[in-house]
Amino acid sequence: MNMLKKGELYYPSSTTRKKAWVKNKNIYQEANKDPVLFWEKLARELFWFEKWNKAFEHKAPYFKWFLGGKINITSNIFEKNPQGWEKIKKKTALIWEPEPTTEKPKKITYRELFSDVCRFANALKKLGVKKGDRVGIYLPMIPEVMVAMLACARIGVVHSVVFSAFSSNSLKVRLQDTEAKVLITADGYWRRGKIVDLKQSADEGVKETKVEKVIVVKRAGNNVSLDSQKDLWFHEIVKNEKDFCEAEPMDAEDTFFILYTSGSTGKPKGVVHTCGGYAVQAYWTGKWIFDFQGGDIFWCTSDPGWVTGHTYTVYSPLLNGITTLMFEGAPDWPKPDRWAQTIEKHKVNIFYTAPTAIRMFEKYGAALLKKYKFKNLRLLGSVGEPIDESSWLWYFTEVGKKRCPIVDTWWQTETGGILITSLPGLGPFKPAFAGLAFPGVQADIKNGNLVILPPFTPGMLRGIYKNPQKYEETYWSSYGKDVYFTSDGATRDKNGLIRIVGRVDDVLKVAGHRLTTGEMEDAINLHPNITESAVIGVSDEIKGEVPVAFIVPKENSQNLAQEVLAQIKKEIGPIALPKQVFVVDDLPKTRSGKIMRRILKKIISREDLGDLSTLANPESVEKIKLVVQKNQAGFIIALLNIIFITAGIAAIIIGLLWSTGVLEQIPGIFKH
Ligand code: PRX
Repeated sequence: MNMLKKGELYYPSSTTRKKAWVKNKNIYQEANKDPVLFWEKLARELFWFEKWNKAFEHKAPYFKWFLGGKINITSNIFEKNPQGWEKIKKKTALIWEPEPTTEKPKKITYRELFSDVCRFANALKKLGVKKGDRVGIYLPMIPEVMVAMLACARIGVVHSVVFSAFSSNSLKVRLQDTEAKVLITADGYWRRGKIVDLKQSADEGVKETKVEKVIVVKRAGNNVSLDSQKDLWFHEIVKNEKDFCEAEPMDAEDTFFILYTSGSTGKPKGVVHTCGGYAVQAYWTGKWIFDFQGGDIFWCTSDPGWVTGHTYTVYSPLLNGITTLMFEGAPDWPKPDRWAQTIEKHKVNIFYTAPTAIRMFEKYGAALLKKYKFKNLRLLGSVGEPIDESSWLWYFTEVGKKRCPIVDTWWQTETGGILITSLPGLGPFKPAFAGLAFPGVQADIKNGNLVILPPFTPGMLRGIYKNPQKYEETYWSSYGKDVYFTSDGATRDKNGLIRIVGRVDDVLKVAGHRLTTGEMEDAINLHPNITESAVIGVSDEIKGEVPVAFIVPKENSQNLAQEVLAQIKKEIGPIALPKQVFVVDDLPKTRSGKIMRRILKKIISREDLGDLSTLANPESVEKIKLVVQKNQAGFIIALLNIIFITAGIAAIIIGLLWSTGVLEQIPGIFKH
């Protein structure tokens, strides 16, 4: 892996290849001959209380895997870990790096984690939480998020993790849909040197839900109000619990977790994953794609509030018996090299992050990382959005030091685990290309769109919670009931490597986070003074894509744009804030009333608008163009003002120093 030219293929070095789990490309042939048999073979390496009696069943658009099998993912993480419990129990399972640099990192062994999980599982049982019940988890990146997820899994309770930066309203919608009985949250957490009061959002979020108890982890020590009927401290309820709890044998097709994600409409969808297939896919994709070896320290930077955090911060590394790292804070806090320091300090071997983070560090400049050798790093990963060629090359050179292959991994909340990427011991790697489908995955491209064909994969979704119609419409209507439509555009090169072009629906990937234009519009439209709105995604140098909003007010008022921003923050959270809000009189529509977001996009990017005669209100377009131009001109004027003012102030200061003779004191300057 030492040449560096755009568009070229890279192959792993012989050392990487020798160490890799998969060295022979015949694996693809073997898997494709009979994918069901192949996955069955892989599934046998996990511990099952009872083996399945049928490997795969397909009643389109529904499918099942390992029917009749009984499993618990936590037995496979702890006492029945495929690597052997005796071998791993004293090993560090989790390294936790808190945000404040004054606080010490925590290292938790598999044995300790197992005890913590069992104690909390017993405490949950005591609260009356039973197999099949739903529990909400609204926690930051602290060890208890892992403990809470695993404790639910231990007793067969369905967890639904809600990203801690989501607003109380987002939490409420999810808790209402799952009808969760219990919510697990924290007093607060650290973000950019400040404490975020999570309990306050949780209190708002549980209103008008079926949540009976709120369990609060004491993390930041901020003052919180406790409701004596409802709230319980985490540390108090686990204090006297036994450190063993029997694992609940779960049917392979029982629901394991529900994770909400943005679809093409405003309402988030509860993606349902099941116990057996998810465990198999999480175990094997991690093992083969990241080449997990006994002593590895793996850092997946994703928050468990997202699917990447579920599968690759928590479940996959633990199933593989290696050490996973979790960092509480912001990547560049308190200094831009915090991540680099963390990689060095904890001797991270495999680093897995999103292109947004890569672009952000790239912008800080190469000097930032020059002093870091990253001696322990041997593999890099990318996920969540397309990585462009130049960021790929920067990542490869400055972080991987031209030594580490990059696995660009394509997958979705719905797929549960990675489906497309080249394997580290085989390659080939090509900048901006995810690569080949994982062995046993039948991926195809139909009219430029990526689809997955039967038998799909064991870890893929089984439905949308309480909404079969949405499931059928979203994934199984574009190409028929037996073709899974990913909503991603894709191409394939002559080597068969797949490149993901991006979403073809209304989903935006903002800094790798999945949001829809529909949910943002719904949030905006709740404002009493808004008639209608349209949100589009425009490309952004760092975040990949950012939202821009067009709003039509009932009456124009001065602070409307600010109010709209506040409204979005309240309804969804700060990650969904539009970069710009344009107040307009009307939105371009077809005669049937559909808003033409495509035209708005072209106005922003100053592209040719083409034929507008099919619009019901073509005159709206010129007016919007004027608003946008005025705004863009306003921005340039503001920028020029800042430059002139700064230059003016500098000139005054230099003048003053000159007149007082101070400058003449400085050696080498203005000596005459
Ligand atoms: O558009 C694809 C993009 O992220 C979408 C899925 O988002 P989410 O469900 O939030 O899961 C993200 C993490 C698995 C996909 O439909 N995406 C994900 N990985 C890649 C990607 N786009 C390009 N390259 C990738 N490696």
